Amino acid sequence: MNVNSGGRNHIAPIIEQQVIKWSANIMGMPNSTTGLVTSGTSMATIIALKVARDRALELHDNSTLVGYTSEQTHNCIAKAFDLLGIPVSALRKVPCDSNFEIDIKKLEQTIEKDISNNLHPFTLIGNAGTVNTGSIDNLDKLADIAHKNDIWYHIDGAFGSAAILSKTAQHRLKGLGRADSIAFDFHKWWQVNYEAGCVLIKDHILHKKSFANRPEYLKYYEEGLAGGDFWAMDYGPELSRSFRALKVWVHLKSHGIAQISNVVENNISQAQYLKSRIEAENALELLAPVPLNICCFRYKFQSNIDTNNSLIVLKIQESGIAAPSTTIIDGSTAIRVNITNHRTTVSDLDLLVNSVLKTGRSLV
Ligand SMILES: Cc1ncc(COP(=O)(O)O)c(C=O)c1O
Repeated sequence: MNVNSGGRNHIAPIIEQQVIKWSANIMGMPNSTTGLVTSGTSMATIIALKVARDRALELHDNSTLVGYTSEQTHNCIAKAFDLLGIPVSALRKVPCDSNFEIDIKKLEQTIEKDISNNLHPFTLIGNAGTVNTGSIDNLDKLADIAHKNDIWYHIDGAFGSAAILSKTAQHRLKGLGRADSIAFDFHKWWQVNYEAGCVLIKDHILHKKSFANRPEYLKYYEEGLAGGDFWAMDYGPELSRSFRALKVWVHLKSHGIAQISNVVENNISQAQYLKSRIEAENALELLAPVPLNICCFRYKFQSNIDTNNSLIVLKIQESGIAAPSTTIIDGSTAIRVNITNHRTTVSDLDLLVNSVLKTGRSLV
């Protein structure tokens, strides 16, 4: 119960590798994929982008490296750039189309321009479920662009990559398995408790090269505790680490993929239900498409529309009725509902909509 999963020859690394093999299989990556169960997607991203950066540094100077992602991307990508010593300004935030998906033409133009300025594109980051609206970039097309330009292709699938488990939504993740690396969270749509993220890296040789650096006090032996094929410390920054993989392994073993798929499927259809409820109310308006499990909308106040919508969210949070959040969509404050809970029911969503209407009316 208190093992150090950083390495050595015992059950924790074996369980962790089993979880990684299952995950790679589900995401469409090869059996040789390596990875770690991390604290979350933020840490998974740092690990993946370090491998991408180290690959690029074999040929190019750090100061010439540039990366690409959409303007809807989570700020864990910019944080990873910063932590890896790449200026945040080297992360090109490409505009999106009306579906909040990366504009492919603008991406290609940006890459061309950088190459003509003697810069070196080293990573392209696609989104399988953006944080604001759940939009999914054209992952297959991004894979083509990355491979054509020899760029490391990373996908942020923090919550949205779990849609690969949904029969109705999985076709929209076409190209997911073509990524060089994927970061996602078990602690989001997979229903595992915090902390449980995951990084998957297709090229196990580059992955190990980026982190393995054994000093004499951690020397490998054929037998004894210092044996064992897989030491997590050779694949990530941490030596001491908890046995996070155990709860993921137990969760998958006891509930099974079919149960988790049901949750994902239900939440997707619940988001469509919520969308239809909002469309049916004159006082409410949708602010973005609903491609997965996120619904962004607002109350149509005549004045102070942004402040009043924030107030609705705060009042509903404090009432204990529901826990929506706020975000900004095209410059306007949105009430953001991200449905990832296996206990959510349609009547919960009715209660939420009715509370928004009631709170909105009270503020008019
Ligand atoms: C799309 C996306 N990427 C990355 C993250 C960061 O994940 P974590 O909080 O597990 O570090 C989140 C978390 O909300 C997210 O929604």
